[in-house]
Order: sequence, then structure tokens, then C-alpha cells
Amino acid sequence: VNPERERLLQAYEWSSKFFHYLLKNTEHGKPAMDYLRSRGFNDKTIDQFQMGYAPDSWNTLVQFLTKRSFDLEEMEKGGLLSPRSDGTGYIDRFRDRVIFPINDKNGRVIAFAGRVLGDAQPKYLNSPESKLFNKSRTLYNLHQAKSAIRKLRQIVLFEGYGDVIAAWEAGVHNGVATMGTSLTEGHIAMMKTMADEILICFDGDRAGQSSAMKNIPLLESAGIRIRIAVLSDGLDPDDFVRKYGSERFMSQIIDGAVSTTKFKLIYLKKNHILLEEDGKIAYMKEVLPIIAALPSSTEREVYLRELSSEHQLSYESLKQDCNLIRQTMQ
Ligand code: GTP
Ligand code: MN
Ligand code: MN
Ligand code: MN
Ligand code: MN
Repeated sequence: VNPERERLLQAYEWSSKFFHYLLKNTEHGKPAMDYLRSRGFNDKTIDQFQMGYAPDSWNTLVQFLTKRSFDLEEMEKGGLLSPRSDGTGYIDRFRDRVIFPINDKNGRVIAFAGRVLGDAQPKYLNSPESKLFNKSRTLYNLHQAKSAIRKLRQIVLFEGYGDVIAAWEAGVHNGVATMGTSLTEGHIAMMKTMADEILICFDGDRAGQSSAMKNIPLLESAGIRIRIAVLSDGLDPDDFVRKYGSERFMSQIIDGAVSTTKFKLIYLKKNHILLEEDGKIAYMKEVLPIIAALPSSTEREVYLRELSSEHQLSYESLKQDCNLIRQTMQ
């Protein structure tokens, strides 16, 4: 064992309990509690995800840690405190933020994500990387999701903490999220040991959908099966659950997840005005090579027939164009 690591784990565990207590049982925590409730998180969820509140103060955690004889320089390196700008000591790093503890796969707290209660920037403040916390190897909620993941051999991958939590409330117990960073080789290797399929459930805005698009080849080349849950109108999974409810989220978004090919067809459609001949032709020029690249002729037929009926084009001409493209690909 590494004693500095053990001390930092202890400090995170106690700080996490302290912030949770402040949220739930004090007057200071009330605005944060109101904020979480206004977002639709219920008390059971607030407990289960051990959400907390870091008060609007320079030294609440400094005093808490000092009383427990922690070395403040060590706590600063570990990401709980910040150095005072004049170099004379330390201040709390997380101030006036809702705290989402980040756990390792065994459930031990290794970092915090702190969210502002309103619209200030940065929206989220995370612990820096430390002896405990390596962003590119951490998946939020893995400790609670791992048993469902192993049972289902499937992971639902979200963008944000709120998405994981709202989806959990809706019944998705195999959901995790990256730490706001893009997917790394480390994440992919971890996921591959636990699951055969990843269901990507990113935000329905441009950024989320293009990030889903970007991650498809990465995951496919690692040999993981992928399906995509398609959100639209800029809603993220959390927004969707709040707006339309859990049942519709489960049936429409999760059960309605599509193949990567179908997702590409949907995604590329947005770039074209399909009511105009030019737009329709340009769209076909983009999607036919994707279909042509599919090794299975059954699969090619399925998508070509869909395109045919959706865009009033004959299956025969689509198939002919597809075959021409295939010849140039050999
Ligand atoms: P809410 O507004 O609380 O619902 O957040 P969100 O999860 O919907 O945020 P968004 O879709 O903007 O971003 C997705 C994820 O990116 C977040 O959950 C964070 O992990 C990360 N992220 C977003 N904004 C910031 C930021 O300002 N700083 C950091 N470090 N991460 C961020
Ligand atoms: Mn509790
Ligand atoms: Mn987003
Ligand atoms: Mn979001
Ligand atoms: Mn959100």
C-alpha cells in the first residue's frame, strides 16, 4: 500500500460524506437541494449517487481537513484544495457547487465533479488528475453499473453525469459516462472486458451526435458491437426523461436504438434538402458508399429497400449504383 494514496482516499471519503451531510441537513445546503429537486432528482437518487454541496466559503473544507490532521499540501495535490494566490496557504477548491462524487470501480471516491447552481462558467469543475484519479481510465458510475453490465453484457454510454443518473431512475442500470473527455483507448479496453455491446446515448445536439459519429469507427475497430440511441431537438437523455418520462425514454430511445449504418443515414440526412432533386442526389452520393461497404448482401438489401421507399427511388437503380461503387472498391 501507498500511504499517501490511502490518506487521499480517506480524505475524499470523509469530504464526500461531509458534503452530502451539508446538502441534506443544513440551511447552507438548501439552495443546492432546491436546485437538485427542481431538476427532478428525488431523495433516493440524491442518496444513492451521494450528491453533496460544497458551501460558498473559502475555508470550510480546509478547517474540516485540518481538524482531522490531513496535510494540506497533500490535499492540494490531491485536488481538494487550491493554493491561496499570495502563496500563504490553502482555500477550498470547490465552492458553492453541487458535488457529484466520482468513484473507482470498487466504489471508492477518487475525485469530485462540482456543478454551479446556475449558468456561471465553468459549468463543471473537476478534481485534477492525481494519484487516485486518471480521467482516461475512469467511467462515471461504473461501480454501481458493473453487475448489470456483466449480466446484460451491454454498456450504455452517456455524455454527462445527469444523463447517467436520470437514466438510472428510468431503469437503465448499466449506464456510465466519460469525465467530459472523449473516449480513450483505456476506456475502450476496460469496456471490452465487461461487455459485448455498447449502446451510445449521447446528447441530441450537433456536438453530441457528431461525437457519436466520430466514435463509431474507434469502437468498431476494437471489435465491439455498437448501437446508437438517437436523440433529437437538442435534448440530452436527462432532458428527455424529464420532458417525456421514463417509459417513453425506455421504449423510444433505449429500445429504439439503431444500427450504426442506420444512424449514419439519419445523421447525414440533416445536411441535405431532400425535397430538392440536387439534395436528394447529393444525399444518395453520400450514403450509397456506406451501404456498398457492408459485407453482407442481405444487409445491403435491407438499407437499399428502406432508402427506396423513403425517397421514392426504385430499388433497382439504387442497387445498380451500389454495385458500381462496390466494383470500384474491390
Ligand atoms: P447539465 O447542464 O448539468 O445537465 O450538464 P450536461 O451533462 O448536460 O452537460 P453537457 O452536455 O454540456 O456536457 C456533457 C459533459 O461534459 C458533462 O457532464 C461534463 O462531464 C462535461 N462538461 C460540460 N461542461 C463542462 C465544463 O465546464 N467543465 C468540465 N470540466 N467538464 C464539462
Ligand atoms: Mn444519505
Ligand atoms: Mn452536450
Ligand atoms: Mn448534456
Ligand atoms: Mn444535461
